[in-house]
Amino acid sequence: MRPVIQVSAIRKTYGSTVAVDDVSFEVNDGEIFGLIGPNGAGKTTTMECIEGLRTPDRGAILVLGLDPFNDVYKLQERIGVQLQQAQLQKRIKVWEAVDLWASLYQRTTIDGERLLEQLGLIDKRSAWFMTLSGGQKQRLFIALALINDPELVFLDELTTGLDPQARRAIWDLVRGIRERGKTVFLTTHLMEAAERLCDRVAIIEHGRIIDIDSPESLVKRHCPERTVVLATDDGSAAERFRAIPRVEAITCRGSQVTIRGSGDDLVTEVIHCLSENRIRVTL
Ligand SMILES: Nc1ncnc2c1ncn2[C@@H]1O[C@H](COP(=O)(O)OP(=O)(O)O)[C@@H](O)[C@H]1O
Ligand SMILES: [Mg+2]
Repeated sequence: MRPVIQVSAIRKTYGSTVAVDDVSFEVNDGEIFGLIGPNGAGKTTTMECIEGLRTPDRGAILVLGLDPFNDVYKLQERIGVQLQQAQLQKRIKVWEAVDLWASLYQRTTIDGERLLEQLGLIDKRSAWFMTLSGGQKQRLFIALALINDPELVFLDELTTGLDPQARRAIWDLVRGIRERGKTVFLTTHLMEAAERLCDRVAIIEHGRIIDIDSPESLVKRHCPERTVVLATDDGSAAERFRAIPRVEAITCRGSQVTIRGSGDDLVTEVIHCLSENRIRVTL
């Protein structure tokens, strides 16, 4: 199978700032691939080079077998893009934005009304952009990225600034995009997003890729193992702890429970689980 995106040794500088350095990876057909890293790591720069919005100083990129810069018009018909800092006019209505975007494409677009329905925006079709909540705006940007029924969708920090509930709803939508047979390339600085969403993840820091693998393997390699020991008489406690993300083993001896897992936030997760389920700790 030919990869949908091939990035070979790209480098991009802004003056004396090296934003992206010797970055290589491939994205396969039908997967959700995530680029994760802290702010300023070079995620947006990498993504915009792949989208043909910027040109790398060095290296080569192929997207759907095309050169993103020279074949930008051909490619635009086949990809969907959500930009990190997108804005629309305050008083454009939801349906107007969808119509406008649809008119930008030569090839037949998908039914905008159905798309709004799928993204839970149909009640808002006549609302002004400025009246939408953060989550609704993001859903509209996803709708606009999908209007040309693209084979490949780019999402840059899609859930930044959203509350956990809105975030989870958006993640469900992104999974839905993959289920429709499309490939998703996304960036995030949230490990949770990468873990819950991505088939494969590349970690980027200071413009360089440190590692690429499945989220589980990356967590194993990069997140140290931790152990929490506590005592409780609550019979359902072990079962509750098992539901915590990244918990690997629970052992009970009498009232003593040992929780083993990985990740810096394991202890916080355990405390959260205790309070959420009102589990009384005796030691
Ligand atoms: N247009 C630009 N001009 C100058 N420097 C830039 C520009 N865009 C990004 N940078 C710099 O390049 C680095 C990578 O930025 P960016 O790709 O936006 O990272 P990320 O998306 O991971 O936060 C940062 O140091 C940033 O300040
Ligand atoms: Mg960015």
